[in-house]
Amino acid sequence: MNRFLDIELLDDQAIASLLETAAALQRDPVSDALRGRVLGLVFMNPSVRTLASFQAGMAQLGGSSFVITPGQGSWGFETRGGVVMDGAHAEHVKEGIPVLAEYADALGVRCFAEGKDLATDLGEPVLSAIAAASPVPLVNLESAVNHPCQALADWKTLDDLGVPRDGKFVLSWAYHPRPLPLAVPAAVVAMAARRGMDVTVLRPEGYGLPGQVMETAAQAASFSGGSVRETDDRAEAMEGAHIVYAKSWQAPSVYGEVEAEARLRDGLRGWSVSEEWFGPARTDARFMHCLPVRRNVVVADEILDGARSAVVQQAGNRLHVQKAVLLEMLGGRAT
Ligand code: CP
Repeated sequence: MNRFLDIELLDDQAIASLLETAAALQRDPVSDALRGRVLGLVFMNPSVRTLASFQAGMAQLGGSSFVITPGQGSWGFETRGGVVMDGAHAEHVKEGIPVLAEYADALGVRCFAEGKDLATDLGEPVLSAIAAASPVPLVNLESAVNHPCQALADWKTLDDLGVPRDGKFVLSWAYHPRPLPLAVPAAVVAMAARRGMDVTVLRPEGYGLPGQVMETAAQAASFSGGSVRETDDRAEAMEGAHIVYAKSWQAPSVYGEVEAEARLRDGLRGWSVSEEWFGPARTDARFMHCLPVRRNVVVADEILDGARSAVVQQAGNRLHVQKAVLLEMLGGRAT
């Protein structure tokens, strides 16, 4: 495996193998499997879990890592082709990425959506420019519309929780004071569909996921026997749910229209997950979120502090699955 950009690019055997390796690494976390190997991490946007778990993972495997934050202590990176670079960015990824590859055996990059034009963001221009420039294995640390590390960790969490492959998975939009990217909802809806789950996207009017995202999820479901649909009817969506995965995202219907989107979102403050939501769900239904999460905005304290919450377990699994990806990419073996 030379690229880990999207779990939909992996076949069933590759996903199963990564999850098996991740479980082995969870049981036996420390080795010299990647001794002397270096991972370069390029963060164009902030992080807690992705940054810490990749650095911890490389250390536990006997390797090391460095972090570049373009524009914040490092030269700003230009990613567009053919531009006159007389603005803020001093370095182009066409040089910057191959240079970092001189020092690293693999690279990871985080490059969020610009959030202005939906078609542009769906085309992943920044990730594509970096992938084209990278001569070494590359990991997507969250791009405009994908977060494969989160998706694979969430798949493992669902397995660890004993959620049936054909269980009911509800991805619910939730209120947030800022318009957020589509990366996690897009990755997670495809992951749950690929796992074979009965997936319902619960969202208010105007927040239907883009056609491209739903088509990818529907294709994933067609491989696995799962299903995907959208609704704005909470009681119907929650009926019999095993999992409620909350996430906010910018309204695709008014994408990039800052004032219109803010007006639409402002009327939806009631979309905050609480225990009352779980009435029609299974009694043992669990709550998932990729983190960071705003307490009592996206979800109530009573859920995060209660037995339903799997959010810390999800974050813990980031470490194990990413180590499996690194071993697969860099040729090491779990002991
Ligand atoms: N879930 C996730 O990717 O967390 P960070 O943004 O903190 O890395």
